[in-house]
Order: sequence, then structure tokens, then C-alpha cells
Amino acid sequence: MCGIVGYVGSKQATPVLINGLKKLEYRGYDSAGVAVLSESSDEILVRKSKGAIKFLEEKIADEVIKGSVGIGHTRWATHGEPSDLNSHPHTNVSGTIAVVHNGIIENYAKLKAWLQDQGVVFKSQTDTEVIAHLINYFYEKTGEIFKAVLETLHRLEGSYALGVVCTKYPDRLIAARKESPLIVGLGKGENFIASDVPPVLEYTRDVYYLNQNELAVLYNDHVDLFDSEGNKIVREPSHVDWDLSSAEKGGYAHFMLKEIHEQSKAFTDTLRPRLVFDGETPSDIQFDEIEFGEDWKTAGRIVITACGTAYHAGVVGKYAFEKFARIPVAVDVASEFRYRNPILNQNDIFIVISQSGETADTLAALRLAKQAGAKVIAITNCVGSTVSREADEVIYTWAGPEIAVASTKAYTTQLMCLYLLALKLGKERHTLSESEYKKLLSEIALIPEKTKEITENQSEIQKFASRQFNKSKIFYIGRQFDSASSLESALKLKEVSYMHCEAFAAGELKHGPIALVDSDTLVVAIATEPALYEKLASNIVEVKSRGAVTMAITIDKTGAFNNCCDEVISIPDIEPSLASMLSIIPAQLFAYYCSILRGNDPDKPRNLAKSVTVE
Ligand code: F6R
Repeated sequence: MCGIVGYVGSKQATPVLINGLKKLEYRGYDSAGVAVLSESSDEILVRKSKGAIKFLEEKIADEVIKGSVGIGHTRWATHGEPSDLNSHPHTNVSGTIAVVHNGIIENYAKLKAWLQDQGVVFKSQTDTEVIAHLINYFYEKTGEIFKAVLETLHRLEGSYALGVVCTKYPDRLIAARKESPLIVGLGKGENFIASDVPPVLEYTRDVYYLNQNELAVLYNDHVDLFDSEGNKIVREPSHVDWDLSSAEKGGYAHFMLKEIHEQSKAFTDTLRPRLVFDGETPSDIQFDEIEFGEDWKTAGRIVITACGTAYHAGVVGKYAFEKFARIPVAVDVASEFRYRNPILNQNDIFIVISQSGETADTLAALRLAKQAGAKVIAITNCVGSTVSREADEVIYTWAGPEIAVASTKAYTTQLMCLYLLALKLGKERHTLSESEYKKLLSEIALIPEKTKEITENQSEIQKFASRQFNKSKIFYIGRQFDSASSLESALKLKEVSYMHCEAFAAGELKHGPIALVDSDTLVVAIATEPALYEKLASNIVEVKSRGAVTMAITIDKTGAFNNCCDEVISIPDIEPSLASMLSIIPAQLFAYYCSILRGNDPDKPRNLAKSVTVE
């Protein structure tokens, strides 16, 4: 997601900022911009452009932007489509304060309405612009920029990394962070901010990693750190001793591993803006982006269409909608749906799921559904994508850019959106009682923390992969939700390890596939439905007695699989019907480690593309 850079020193700021932004390109972005305090006049020179950094460079190629204090930004659209206007930096009305922001301001709509009541006219659709206007509001009240920033931060809910410059304070740059990352680079006669280490590495290796709720004020000869109340903090800087190429992956060996680890945060970003709290307790789900009206409540059916991993999310979604909202669901791969002359009714809700929002088959299915008069809801990770523009309503997964070809965090955030929809629908259609609904909300709120528990304890899976990566056949099995998770687990393994892997509903094994089982087979059972443990254990015994090595990924804590499995990967306990969001993570890690052990590049599997824009 968005990248931030900032500079205070004696060099011309613009080339330093542009150079820094290029080092953050790996984060993904759709527009770029800079704001520099002019050396010759009392103004901030703001230049921004939709698209690649090179378009920004072309825009400023013929002018000399003189100034040695500035901020820069690469934007990955959240609120408002990618456009010149929505690109950062954003300013207050008089253009004396400029702000760059990475994160999501959850209460921006309320703040915006309040500022509009004060007469502020907004230029963009972004959540960030409220920050510039709020700082201005408090600056007018307090007459001091640092106090104005502090007051503003106290009113922001959500996540942010911020860089702020002000014409009245041409010697400094103010930075702050909550949730979104921000570092301060300490140079000689110059200082920097950046979302990550790479932009500062060519100037310095001494950095402060800003902690939660900390602020920094940067001058060319020193940097002051503050806590959230404005009290000064003193601490030693950290020294960076790794190189650029590993830095872009945040120290991870591959983007796939980084993205697997980012799932806890991606869950939080996708879940939090939609959870309504009563004190500390989640009490409701609210989708600001869609009308949850009569058409949902009276819908006769939900039709879900997508491709690949997104289709697998749809299969989990089917189980969730049917369980919680008792509504029939048809789920189909888009490439089949579009050529089938499908039967659609006016009171169907049609959901397309697409990480990229550009998949050709999914788009064709969307268009077909619209022609048939169905209401089309898109679940996508990319603001401004074709799917997001053509759907009637859009629910965004806030996974951040996914660089590795094999989808991980985009998939799990798709699951989160589908679960939230299914629970909300269950409440509205009275198929979930108020107490069941609240209990499920309390459980879903635990998913980010439990995800972290899994990713922080991956050594068992790594060891198991080191013993199994040469198997010639691998089967994932499961029942109900777990059979859906098996589909995605098998696809992940195929994609990055190139091992032959299939998924079967566990009860189907004996109807044919069991003929394949021998001692060179690994069978992985996903087991998160206690009511079906016994049945699943019987299926495992059937393959084990034919020589297969067996592993279970389970929430069970009673030892139900200890006798029939060679390995049991235990995941944190959770309400079983929500466990699909967790049980996939060991499978992603297993696929990743098998890929490495087989000498593959998990980030760029052979024959695959990230965005499939052809049929
Ligand atoms: C697998 C994977 C693909 C995509 C599929 C649809 O890891 O990423 O199977 O899920 O190509 O792509 P989107 O979601 O962009 O429509």
C-alpha cells in the first residue's frame, strides 16, 4: 500500500523524493506526487500525477522546483479512484499545509461532514484530505503547527503514517505513525522519513523505527521524537545492516512469505472499518459502501462467480451464506458460467470476486449478469479496476498490494468480506438470533490475533515440508467448509511447488480416488468441524492403511487425530464455522516451503501471470 518519503536538508528535495519513491514501487501504487516548500516564495509547490512515477517526472521535467524540504507519496487508492486530484499530497484550502498519508482514516466521513459544516470545501474524495483541513483548523486555534498536528491525531481513528509540511515552518517536517509503518533516516546535515528502509539506504544506515503513536519533528541537523501526548522521547537509533534487495521484501526471503505474514494486518484492515462496537464489544456489521436494503433481505438466491483462488473463496462463501443466512447459493467458475446461458432471476444477488478486478472471464460474467438485470456486487482488492467500475456496488478487501503471483492475503480477505456479508444477512433475515450474531462477531474479531499465532509458529510446518517435499502425490481432504479450504490448499501447492496435488471431499475418496493411494502419497486432512471428526478420522485411517503419510490441520485439542495422523498441525481454537480463515494458513506455508525445498521461485511460478486479462 501507499509509500511515503520526506526530506529536510540542503540538497534539492525533488530528486531525492522521486528517487525514494522509486524504491517504494514494490509496494504497489497507482499515482504519485510531491510537495516541496518553495525556496523563493511563501508557498508549497505540489505536483502529482495518476499512473507511474515516470508520468510525474514527465510533468515536472521542464520546471526547476527549488526547495530543500518536501514530502512525496505513491498512492494505492482506497477512498476515491486513482486520479490526479485524489493523488497525494493533499493541502488545506489556502495551500499552506501539505500532507501525505498511508493508512485508512476510519472516521473520515464524520470528520469530513463536520469540516464541511465549518465551510471547508473539499477537492478530493480521499480520507486523507480531512487531515490537512483538520491540521489547518487546529493551527488557526493554537497558532503552533506541532500542537495542531497533535490535536488532529487525537481525533483520527484508524491507521496512519503521516508526513506534514507547513509554509510557516520552512525548516522542518513533522511525521507521525499509528499502525502503518514509518521510519526516520538520520543523515549528516539531512534527515528523511520513509515507509520502509530502502529509500534512505543510499544516504544513511541509522534509523528510528517509529513506534505506535509516536511523532517525529525533523530539522536538517537533528530529529526530535515525541509520544502521543507531545512529551519528548530519547532513544538510540537502530543500525541497518542488510542490503537493498532484501529490504524491499521487508527482510523476508520472498514476497509470498511476506504476504502470508501480512494476513493478520490485512484481516484487521478489512474487518475493523466494518465492525461496529458497543464499548469494547463488537455489536454489528456495517458496510458503508453498499446498500443493505430490501433486495438483500428478500433475495431468492445468491450467485457467486470468480476464477481460481477467488472461486475457492466463493465456495467457502457458499457454505457461509447457507449456514448463517439460510439462502441458496450457486457458485461457479466464470469461464463456465459465461458460456452456459445461465439462468438468472431478477431477485438474485450476483457476487463477483476478483483480486485484480481485471480477470477477463470474471468481467464477462459480470456483464452477463448485468444484462440479465441482476444486482452485481464486486469483491475486489483494486480500487479503480474495471470490475470495481462496472459493478453496481463494490466491497473492497483491504489486503494491500499482492506482489507474489500465488494469492494468499487477497484470498483470506475475500473470505473475511464473504463471512461479514453472510453474518449480516443472517441477522437481517432473522436466521441468526441476536445472541448468536454477537457471539460470532466476538469470534470474528479474534481472527487477526489468531492468524498471528499461526504465522509466528511455523517451524513445525517447515520441518514437515522438509520431510514431504518429494512425495509424488498429495491429496487434501475435508468435509463441508474444510472441503472448500482443501480446494485452495491444493491449488497453492500446485502453483508454487509443481507437485501433483488434488483436493477431494473426504467422503468421495472411496468412490474412486482411493485407487491412487500408495506409500508415495501424502494425505492432508483439514479438520475444523468437530461434529464430523469421527467420519474424517475414518477416511484418514482408510488411506493410512494403504500406505499414505497423513497429516491433519485442526482446531481439535482433544487428540482426535493423534492415532490416525503422522503429523498434527494444531491451529488456534475458534468457532468452527469461521475456521476457514485460519486453516488455510498452514497450507499456504506448506506450499511455500515445498516450493523453496524444490528449488523454485515461489514469487514467480512458471507459466502463471498475476492478472489474467485474456480468456
Ligand atoms: C492463484 C491465483 C489465481 C487467481 C485467478 C483470478 O493463486 O491467484 O487463481 O485467483 O487468476 O484472479 P483475480 O482474483 O484477479 O480475478
